[in-house]
Amino acid sequence: MSDKKRVSRRQFLNYTLTGVGGFMAAGMLAPMVRFAIDPVLKTKEGGDFISVASVDEITNEPQRFEWTIDQVDAWYESEVQKTAWVYRNENDEIVALSPICTHLGCTVDWASNEEYPKEFFCPCHGGRYTKDGVNVPGTPPTAPLPMFEHKVEEGMLYLGEAQERGGA
Ligand code: FES
Repeated sequence: MSDKKRVSRRQFLNYTLTGVGGFMAAGMLAPMVRFAIDPVLKTKEGGDFISVASVDEITNEPQRFEWTIDQVDAWYESEVQKTAWVYRNENDEIVALSPICTHLGCTVDWASNEEYPKEFFCPCHGGRYTKDGVNVPGTPPTAPLPMFEHKVEEGMLYLGEAQERGGA
């Protein structure tokens, strides 16, 4: 008698059916799993620039510009209002600052406090920032206002993501 193990017809059928069944199950489950977790796998599309103003409107005095974006968080889609303080600096460069206070997230306004008419002021805890968005030492914020990426095309100002600037 031979030492080789022989596979019976029953075992062969079991192996074959198990293999084919597993393959078919994987084929059906893979798209379902993919569909269920797809929004989580999607990478955030950064670098989108939105047209927010005509460059002719931008002066040396900071002005508030608002726009909305569609935000998708996994399965939830919403419209989010964005705001920037925009002006031209002494070198005629466009500066676009986030209005979100770097202390605890309140909204800053330009020249809203009579005592500091040439500064951004946060009413929540008296945070102050100079015109270029740098936090005034001795006030609660410890970092400058984030600055929006921007570009100008065909006379329109486009803003991208607000970039944090390091602070002490
Ligand atoms: S949140 Fe602006 S100073 Fe506190």
